[in-house]
Amino acid sequence: MTAPTPLIAGNWKMNGTAASLGEALAVAAQQGGGRARVAICPPATLIQRMSAALAGSAVMVGAQDCRAEEAGAFTGDVSAEMLADAGAKLVILGHSERRAGHGETDALVATKVKAALRAGLEPIICVGETLDQRKAGDALGVVTGQVRGSLPPELAGKAWSVAYEPVWAIGTGLTPTTSEIEEMHVAIRATLRDLFGPEGAGPAILYGGSVKPSNAAEILHAAEVGGALVGGASLKADDFLGIIRAL
Ligand code: PGA
Repeated sequence: MTAPTPLIAGNWKMNGTAASLGEALAVAAQQGGGRARVAICPPATLIQRMSAALAGSAVMVGAQDCRAEEAGAFTGDVSAEMLADAGAKLVILGHSERRAGHGETDALVATKVKAALRAGLEPIICVGETLDQRKAGDALGVVTGQVRGSLPPELAGKAWSVAYEPVWAIGTGLTPTTSEIEEMHVAIRATLRDLFGPEGAGPAILYGGSVKPSNAAEILHAAEVGGALVGGASLKADDFLGIIRAL
């Protein structure tokens, strides 16, 4: 089985207006020739405009969440089909900010993953432990449990990735040690093989949490790290390009 193609995805979170499209264009103009697939996941309001602006480039556009249902009386929500219609190719699901701030459970994340697949979107499924869970020695159990609960069998045969994002590393400037990252990624890979058989070797396992140009090379070359999910450092083209080039 060949190694998964690395994916570097930027998660703009609730940042960005039309004035920010230039950053995405600058990434698209300068990222050529790298080994990674590159994606930017802007707020939903920018997906259509960014998709149009990046048409013909190698940078894909993704979304940050979706509703599981296809359509209906769900005020304020957006379905996977709507995101695909707007031009999204991927969708981040189960991000810890949604798990913590919107009460998303593993079971709900799994239904959203199925919705993404129904709409032809490539899911990036996020997992990660809190600092208390790590301090209690529960990190491996929590994260592999999230993997088991959030990944439905429908993923078999489809394109997808998992993002390991320790909650305590997101937006804090803190990162696990390289050996802690490797230990977790190896455990996630073993869980994927358990769930999907030999096919579980295929999907990339991204690392996320305070990735920046200065630490990207070490993180991206760690065992079983197949790319990065980048928050704050994806907002500026120069920083994001620095991470893309570190691969
Ligand atoms: P950060 O966020 O890179 O700003 O830590 C990562 C994420 O939440 O995906």
